Amino acid sequence: LMRTKIPDGLQKLPGPKPLPIIGNVLEVGSNPHLSLTAMSKCYGPVFQIQIGTRPVLVLSGNDVIRQALLKQGEEFSGRPDLYSTRFISDGKSLAFSTDQVGVWRARRKLALSALRTFSTVQGESSEYSCALEEHISKEGLYLIQRLHSVMKSDGSFDPFRHIVVSVANVICGICFGRRYSHDDDELVGLVNLSDEFGKIVGSGNPADFIPFLRIFPSSSMKKFLAINARFSKFIQKIVSDHYDTFDKDNIRDITDSLIDHCEDRKLDENSNEQVSDEKIVGIVNDLFGAGFDTISTALSWAVVYLVAYPEIQERLQGELKEKIGMDRTPRLSDRTQLPLLEAFILEIFRHSSFLPFTIPHCTSKDTSLNGYFIPRDTCVFINQWQVNHDPELWKDPSCFNPDRFLSADGTDLNKTEGEKVLVFGLGKRRCIGESIGRAEVFLFLAILLQRLKFSGMPGEMLDMTPEYGLTMKHKRCLLRVSPQPGYAS
Ligand code: HEM
Repeated sequence: LMRTKIPDGLQKLPGPKPLPIIGNVLEVGSNPHLSLTAMSKCYGPVFQIQIGTRPVLVLSGNDVIRQALLKQGEEFSGRPDLYSTRFISDGKSLAFSTDQVGVWRARRKLALSALRTFSTVQGESSEYSCALEEHISKEGLYLIQRLHSVMKSDGSFDPFRHIVVSVANVICGICFGRRYSHDDDELVGLVNLSDEFGKIVGSGNPADFIPFLRIFPSSSMKKFLAINARFSKFIQKIVSDHYDTFDKDNIRDITDSLIDHCEDRKLDENSNEQVSDEKIVGIVNDLFGAGFDTISTALSWAVVYLVAYPEIQERLQGELKEKIGMDRTPRLSDRTQLPLLEAFILEIFRHSSFLPFTIPHCTSKDTSLNGYFIPRDTCVFINQWQVNHDPELWKDPSCFNPDRFLSADGTDLNKTEGEKVLVFGLGKRRCIGESIGRAEVFLFLAILLQRLKFSGMPGEMLDMTPEYGLTMKHKRCLLRVSPQPGYAS
């Protein structure tokens, strides 16, 4: 192996001794968020492991992660070339691909501006403050009906199965100007496969680092390839329908606005043609994929936590009854009125840390951190789970306690505490859907909690052990729901 010489004054990264060929794969194991947190206690917040023959820098601790992603953001904002990411959106993903800085920056700017425009624009009805609120409210109320009818026919429901369709419909509304029926086999089948996608893309998948594992792909890897193909086909059809019906004077949704951007560029002699049309319109792949999986995972966890902590569910329902009443549907502007619900959401983000690592980063040049030398092109894992469970930052980190985010009298949200929770990443690669994500989790939950009471199946224990992946899911389970007094089903 070629070894880069360590410059004077800097030290070699600490870390566990790797085995030949497999490196530290065995120590990393099937729950990297736990094993790498344990290693950080031994080697400190900046250490190196080896997966296969490839070195990987692992960062933990609030200070080190902030130093790398905020103060040295430019050097840590690349993406590594990993085997699995070549298959996501044909290797053209905004979030995962190794696009050059200029290309990624231009795409990210376009994506951010399209999301902002199409979530804040006025919706169809003036009853709602914006299109995002309208989509969420309508899908939330529809989900309630759906859950009642599933309860009537089956006596129980699988939370992820139904929530994911409602959440996907919100992002479909914004990106594609349409929604799908909960019985639409194509959409329902596609969005219910996201667990298999996340298992392969999660930080530390050995096949990303050890080439010979690709010769005999695992069943998860085969499913991953099939999901990507299905996903691309689904989006391609929608995009081609949009091209067929495109009207410059009637921009219906994000897909239209991206097509329009490509058209405008062709007329502008000074425009920068560095980014292909395919990569611009392909941004909807990322928005749709990131927009349904993250939020539905968060909401599905929320429902499971409500069932596991019935006394908190009751307090949340009490807060809604007192502050909003039962006569109108909650709105986005109610957020400041519902500190307990906000605290509950923050505690779900922290305690579940369902995005245990960010998407892997990569160094864009030789650099250093805490006195250690880090060569260019080093793959970097950012351990968000560790920050959210660090005893230096949190009292009783393993205890689920939303009150930790409230003032002593329980009436105000403690924003400083809230900002310590790390789930959206930080710095240049920070999530672009953060405000939509937070708004959506809040409003869906407020609407559901106002009208429904969630409970488990009698005599059955809830298994809250997360299944590792890019987004960690709870095991599929069956729950029950009944109408809140005052609301008929
Ligand atoms: C990236 C979290 C919702 C679009 C990310 C990253 C995280 C994250 C941890 C990686 C940051 C990094 O690599 O350092 C979440 C959570 C969400 C959420 C917890 C919801 C609760 C959304 C939504 C959208 C979205 C709704 C779009 C509609 C993206 C995109 C990236 C990203 C495009 C890639 C950014 C880049 O590489 O420059 N998100 N996300 N996310 N997210 Fe989100």
